[in-house]
Amino acid sequence: MLITRFDYIEFYVSNLPLVQFLFKHGLGFENCSRIDSIENIDYNTSLIFQNDINIVLSSSCDSLSELSKEVSLSGDFIKDVAFEVEDIEQVISNASAFGTKIIEPVHELFYNQGIIKKATIASFGNTRHSLIQKIPFIKDGPHLQKQYNNSPLEKIDHIAVAVEYKNLDKWVDFYKNIFGLQKIFEENVITEHSGMMSVVVGSDQKGIKIVLVSPVDGKSRSQISDFISNNNGEGVQHIAFSTSNIIKAIKDIKNKGVEFLDVNDDYYNKLDLPESYRNSYRDELKNLRILYDKDEYGELLQIFSKKLHSKPTWFLEVLERKGAKTFGRGNVKKLYESVEKELSKQYAK
Ligand SMILES: [Fe+2]
Repeated sequence: MLITRFDYIEFYVSNLPLVQFLFKHGLGFENCSRIDSIENIDYNTSLIFQNDINIVLSSSCDSLSELSKEVSLSGDFIKDVAFEVEDIEQVISNASAFGTKIIEPVHELFYNQGIIKKATIASFGNTRHSLIQKIPFIKDGPHLQKQYNNSPLEKIDHIAVAVEYKNLDKWVDFYKNIFGLQKIFEENVITEHSGMMSVVVGSDQKGIKIVLVSPVDGKSRSQISDFISNNNGEGVQHIAFSTSNIIKAIKDIKNKGVEFLDVNDDYYNKLDLPESYRNSYRDELKNLRILYDKDEYGELLQIFSKKLHSKPTWFLEVLERKGAKTFGRGNVKKLYESVEKELSKQYAK
């Protein structure tokens, strides 16, 4: 397996202080004191983190810069999903063999505590994957110079990527051939007028998961097609942060004003929660509008944010895995329906 973890996610944004405020004051992120792995000198860049989640925010004052042009077309969007990898040369060799554009070849970055190897390859839409390989004596991400904190969000569980129907197989092959990931889950949601296909590629050992979602061929419209059109191309639809206490995390985040997609009471009336769940725990799930589901390995609890910026594109998810390794089919459908309902409210305005 070539990917060991999500190293960082970089957003291109128009108003950096505002997005930073959202992540810090709404979601509990902190500023990092220094950035060694980010080399951009043309842009304003800020690194924020929470436990093992690193977010880079970049903006540009120059309206003619590439960053500004891309933000003017897509709105704030996820530009880079950076992976820590075990063998960067092997990944680059696989990417070349697959015909992927190498944006930056392997090079070394020096900083006061050691060396990392870095390279960047193109991926879906305007997005790219930076690849980071730490040399063996560097442990625990010192290039990010951070302290672990007590905030509830722990790591990036998965990203979901909206892709064109015709490209779905191509992107599955991209992650299989370049990174050695395997298809671990598949689910289709079909409604009367729309639909979504989803395929998850990942690795059990490292807990890496990439969810590829596409519109369904032949349906008149789909929220995935709307995403692709609003995003000016294929892109990251949501980022999921894991926590070991979703009740505490969501209470905290909701108290700070971040809004999440609503779920109707009927969902909870019909929900088949385990007998072992105390009534107070059931009530908390219902009050916070947290979704419950299972896969063959265990349970998972999930909640999805409303959009946090001006375009109906990316959003965030928080989830707690209680043994589940993949996804629950009920929650995939529920998310699709909730987003559909939220979008129809926005279009009605
Ligand atoms: Fe998700």
